[in-house]
Amino acid sequence: MTVSYKELGLVNTKDMFKKAFEGQYAIPAYNFNNMEQLQAIVMASVESESPVILQVSKGARAYANETLLRYMAMGAVEMAKEYAKQLNKKVPPIALHLDHGDTFETAKSCIDAGFSSVMIDGSHHSFEDNIALTKKVVEYAHAHDVTVEGELGVLAGVEDEVVAEHSSYTKPEEVIEFVERTGVDSLAISIGTSHGANKFTPAQCTRNEEGILVPPPLKFDILEEIEKQIPGFPIVLHGSSSVPQDKVAIINANGGKLKDAIGIPEDQLRKASKSAVCKINIDSDGRLAMTAAIREVFAKNPAEFDPRKYLGPAREALKEQYIAKNKNVLGSAGKA
Ligand code: G3H
Ligand code: 13P
Ligand code: ZN
Repeated sequence: MTVSYKELGLVNTKDMFKKAFEGQYAIPAYNFNNMEQLQAIVMASVESESPVILQVSKGARAYANETLLRYMAMGAVEMAKEYAKQLNKKVPPIALHLDHGDTFETAKSCIDAGFSSVMIDGSHHSFEDNIALTKKVVEYAHAHDVTVEGELGVLAGVEDEVVAEHSSYTKPEEVIEFVERTGVDSLAISIGTSHGANKFTPAQCTRNEEGILVPPPLKFDILEEIEKQIPGFPIVLHGSSSVPQDKVAIINANGGKLKDAIGIPEDQLRKASKSAVCKINIDSDGRLAMTAAIREVFAKNPAEFDPRKYLGPAREALKEQYIAKNKNVLGSAGKA
């Protein structure tokens, strides 16, 4: 059975990105794999009146079952309406997006299942193969009014099942040809972000007066060059978790063993949000917030075995984190 995202009450990213570009903010794209994550994202979006992109990776589809995920997204739209009415807030526009789609078949199956937006990540292929794959997805997606994100440049770290040891920055001289020949609606670029909770080695960082590691800044010069090549075109940043050190400390104080965890400083993301960057992807920070809350519950009460007693606080911590990001980092709060 195929279903259009429009029947599910979802929107594609076209209008979201146009407004984000003009208003100099970025739309949050938060990954979800389970009910508590989805509830937290929806509640945070309503409470901060922020548009939102619900992001589903290939791993999430395998973990949660793709049919269930589709109905969960449908439920999220209905929950957002009810919750907004209850709080007297605006109903946020919600997109359902495939994160790091790797084949035409995966993208097609998501479009047929009610996704409103897909990423086709051909960044590990040659330039020509990336163009051919992306163009094929764009043709199918646009016939269904679904928006497509392509990628040029490679991020270090884990991109779903693809592990890249080294990053290669996006080449600004390639972006016009890629965008024109593929017809994509947005472009993910590589300017120094990476996936996961260990974005830089200590050797790549400097230290401030208190001895705390300071990561190298993002390559804003490359971003500016890209913006000159494709003025007004929506740019996407993956790997944009900030890896909050208070959460890392809670995890490690309660039995965790996270070593040298470091992310992208919030001021860098605030600056990026004001540029052509219209979508910022965050997953690891949510994982850290939930894990910190769960570890705290178990450390305080080792006899606890009701999942609601540890997943509930984890959901609350996630919601608070995402509200803070929408307000203070992405600038999407109040833009519903
Ligand atoms: O880009 C990676 C996202 O954080 C999704 O991660 O493939 O483990 O679901 P995952
Ligand atoms: P983080 O690992 O930095 O949260 O990045 C998530 C991401 O890019 C999902 O596509
Ligand atoms: Zn990513």
